[in-house]
Formats: sequence, structure tokens, C-alpha cells
Amino acid sequence: MKKHNYSAGPCILPQEVFEKASQAILNFNNSGLSILEISHRSKDFVAVMDEARALALELLGLEGKGYQALFLQGGASLEFLMVPYNLMKIDGKAAYLDTGTWASGAIKEAKPFGETLVVASSKESNYTFIPKDYIIPTDANYFHCTSNNTIFGTQMKSFPETNVPVVCDMSSDIFSRTLDFSKFDIIYAGAQKNMGPAGATLVVVKEEILGKSGRNIPGIINYEQHISKESMYNTPPVFAVYTSLLTLQWLKNKGGIAGIEKENEAKAALLYAEIDRNPLFKGVVATEDRSTMNATFTLNNEAHQEIFDAMWKAAGISGINGHRSVGGYRASMYNALPIESVQVLVDVMKELEKSAQ
Ligand SMILES: Cc1ncc(COP(=O)(O)O)c(C=O)c1O
Repeated sequence: MKKHNYSAGPCILPQEVFEKASQAILNFNNSGLSILEISHRSKDFVAVMDEARALALELLGLEGKGYQALFLQGGASLEFLMVPYNLMKIDGKAAYLDTGTWASGAIKEAKPFGETLVVASSKESNYTFIPKDYIIPTDANYFHCTSNNTIFGTQMKSFPETNVPVVCDMSSDIFSRTLDFSKFDIIYAGAQKNMGPAGATLVVVKEEILGKSGRNIPGIINYEQHISKESMYNTPPVFAVYTSLLTLQWLKNKGGIAGIEKENEAKAALLYAEIDRNPLFKGVVATEDRSTMNATFTLNNEAHQEIFDAMWKAAGISGINGHRSVGGYRASMYNALPIESVQVLVDVMKELEKSAQ
């Protein structure tokens, strides 16, 4: 039986994507060859890369606006390093918002490159909210933020107005909600949440901000080099790119980001309403900063844990244990998770309440 998969990432992808991707492993485009055994320079694969890059920009509404989409390797974690390498000037300065483990990972990687200013942090409260009152110095080379904090379950609902380039790690909420993406100069995301399997990283970059750091950037981490080679600087992660393309096509058929956003809001509303209604549970983070992708919650009384864990496992739910730094539970409701799975979890929470009476 297919599980109700709440994994935080790698995570659920659409069933039709799994089916089409499986078919391409056996016989890609009726070529008599597997997608895993053809050259990345072959006509068939170049078409995949070109379409994936174009569709990513189209879905974000960034076509023809001076942006390039790249499918790189090294995960979002390599972008923590590539961003300062490409953007921070020698003797320059960058501003960072510290909203969680991944944001602080990005800060750590930037430090060796120059002054890395943390404009605000919610670390003292174990990242249960998104800081809002902070000032971004006008002489910063860029401002870096994390739109969705996968581990803690917070999400930025608005972004600062600033004249410095804005860089955003959107690993865990890319393609999930409508935003004015043209306010960002670099968006990056590991594929393994809303886009595809682990192994590819989407980087969307506004070309005009590149080439200003004054650094001698090694080719493999130089955005300009990747752009000039049309995202084929070296062998790309072909299967991850192909599967990402299938997911982006699925998303387009569902009405794009605006279409999926409605479903994501309905799923999140259903679960958070139960967390707030049910006296046995409580949410972990500030209500106004709650993520639509990752809902973190705990039991009010740990005595119920054993029975609750047995109940959700019996209902076919998988992957809702919280991250070790938060505890409790984390329900990740990425694009491909159907609302029926959320209803199953809500029903189990209601059953627990009844059984505890
Ligand atoms: C928001 C965010 N940033 C960065 C990362 C690290 O991504 P990767 O493992 O692709 O390097 C993750 C992983 O879950 C994440 O959720």
C-alpha cells in the first residue's frame, strides 16, 4: 500500500512522475536506450535541459527578464559557498538573516569571504519566529535569506524592500506559492522537495549582478561559466534534471504555481486548524510565521506519544517525526502530497482525542 508520505526531503513526488521516470530508465523517448546510458550532449538530453531551464523560468514568471536558470550539483549547501564567491567583493560585506539551521549554515560559509553581518536572528528562541525589524546596510553586496525553514516550520510571508541584491534559499518552498520572483536576484533550491530527486540544484540568477566581485572564481563554482555553457559546464545530473522536468510539467498542467498554491493553503489550513482545536496538541512556532510546507507540532502530554505513534503508523502515515533539534512532529506537506493524506492525519489526531477521554 502506498504510504501517506510526510517526509521532509527527499520527499513525495507525483505518482505520474515516478511512472514516466521509470519508463525513461527502460526506454527513453522510444529510442531503445535508457536515459541513464545516453550522452548528456545527445540531442534528446540537450532538449531536456533546455526545456527544464525554460520551464523553471516560465513557472516563476521570469522569462525575458534577464534571468538564467541553471541545474547544478552540490545541493543547496554548495550555493552557501557559491553565492559569496560570486557576489561578495574583496573587502566587501554581505547581510544575512538567521532564521534556522540552514540559514546559519549559509552564514558560516560566507564568513571567510568578508564581513558577514547577521542583521537579525531568532536563534535565542530556537528559531520559533521570523525576525521582522532589521536594517539592511545599503553598502552590502547582497542580502541573504531563507524563505522556508524546513526544520523549524517557519516561513517568510514578506520580504524586505531593499536596494541591495536579494539572494534567497527557497529549497523547501520553491514552486509552492505565488511571489513576485523578480524581487530576487538569486533564488536557489535543492531539487529534493518540490522539484525532483536529490542530485540537482536549481539556481535562478539575474545576469546583471554577476561579474562584479573582483574575485578569480574557479570555473566549477562560477555562475557566469555555467551560464555560458548552458548549464552543461560538466556532465549534469541527467536523471535528476529529467525527473525535475517531469515534475515541472506536472505543475504546469495543474495551473502552475497559482494552482498549487490553493491546494497548499487548503492542506495547511486543515492541519493547523486541528492542531489549534485539539486540546492534546500545540503548534511550535509563532502563528503568523507558520509554514505551509512544514508544520511542526507537539503533544501537550508525552504520555500520549506511544499510542499516537502506533495510531499514525497503523493509518499508513510515514515520516512525521520531528527533527531532533525541535522534537515532536513535523508534517511536510509538499506540492505532491494530496489533501486526502492530510485528512488521514487529522482523523488520527481526532481519534487520539477520543481515545484519551
Ligand atoms: C532550506 C534548506 N536549505 C538548504 C538545505 C540543504 O540542502 P542540500 O542537502 O541540498 O545541500 C536544506 C535541506 O533540507 C534546506 O531545507
